[in-house]
Amino acid sequence: MYKKSILDAIGNTPLVKLNKVAEDIEATILVKVEYLNPGQSVKDRIAVKMIEDAEKKGLIEPGGTIIEGTSGNTGMGLALVAAVKGYKCIFTTTDKQSKEKIDLLRALGAEVRVCPTNVEPDDPKSYYSVAKQLSKEIPNSYYPNQYENLSNTAAHYETTGPEIWYQTEGSITHYAAGMGTGGTISGTARYLLEKNEQIQVIGIDSVGSVYKKYFETGEYDKNEVKPYLTEGIGEDIIPANIDMDLVDAVVQVNDKNAFQMTRALAKKEGLFIGGSCGAAVYGALEYAREQKLGSDQLMVIILPDSGSRYVSKIYNDEWMDEHNFLDTQ
Ligand SMILES: Cc1ncc(COP(=O)(O)O)c(C=O)c1O
Repeated sequence: MYKKSILDAIGNTPLVKLNKVAEDIEATILVKVEYLNPGQSVKDRIAVKMIEDAEKKGLIEPGGTIIEGTSGNTGMGLALVAAVKGYKCIFTTTDKQSKEKIDLLRALGAEVRVCPTNVEPDDPKSYYSVAKQLSKEIPNSYYPNQYENLSNTAAHYETTGPEIWYQTEGSITHYAAGMGTGGTISGTARYLLEKNEQIQVIGIDSVGSVYKKYFETGEYDKNEVKPYLTEGIGEDIIPANIDMDLVDAVVQVNDKNAFQMTRALAKKEGLFIGGSCGAAVYGALEYAREQKLGSDQLMVIILPDSGSRYVSKIYNDEWMDEHNFLDTQ
């Protein structure tokens, strides 16, 4: 029994119970451990789906170049797909991303262009604009665009949703996930709600993102945008993949709470994960406490990526101290 390529090892990640950090909560709290994917994140799922859908539509041909604006994880997934299928890759990313993430992409043979973080999305220097421009200039290139490409949501509808339904034997009552492009929350929730429309969907956002206000008022307010350090969740745009009609509550989490929970999950649960995982767990547990979830309820929280990409940041005491994220000052 073997896999035809590493791409066949994507998905079917385990659901694991949180014990110590959720001790005070009666409900069963399970996490879906996406760092056990071959590219160490949930984004492997969408990478393979976006490229295979593009191949079917004739949008990319053998020997072509994949170009994407990515905070690292999608790039890693796309780089794996490209390596197996024989494509070139160019990624644009922001100077906010960890050095480890950028080095990892280069290790897989990708070219990486680093762009400034604190510019408007439509500024020609932004990583969105640079990726779009390159895809116009380079022949036989394909720009998957995880923000607008609905294969992103479809990947989660086809894989993450059914896995959670099957793994919980249909007993899930609450689903919580961070919201970046929106693909994870929208695709998974759409599947789960088709199975049971009573399931509550909780979106986790970062302080400094437009999502919470957009959820509450329907208004996109640029004034909500503030710098923050949690990577992968929260947005300054409203991507096509986010479907707020599926979401019942949005919880915003700040960097300090996110990163302290990230470290607690590693130390107390043995889950070596990234900062958006800490945010998701912190926000979801806060919701579970506020709603007083009982022993007949079962919550699943998505843990999108691995701690290995944050060793010099969240797992480094000096870095945490510099940002006043440790409690000891
Ligand atoms: C580390 C991390 N966490 C969470 C997310 C959010 O997932 P989605 O983009 O599907 O909303 C991302 C997306 O980039 C991510 O990289």
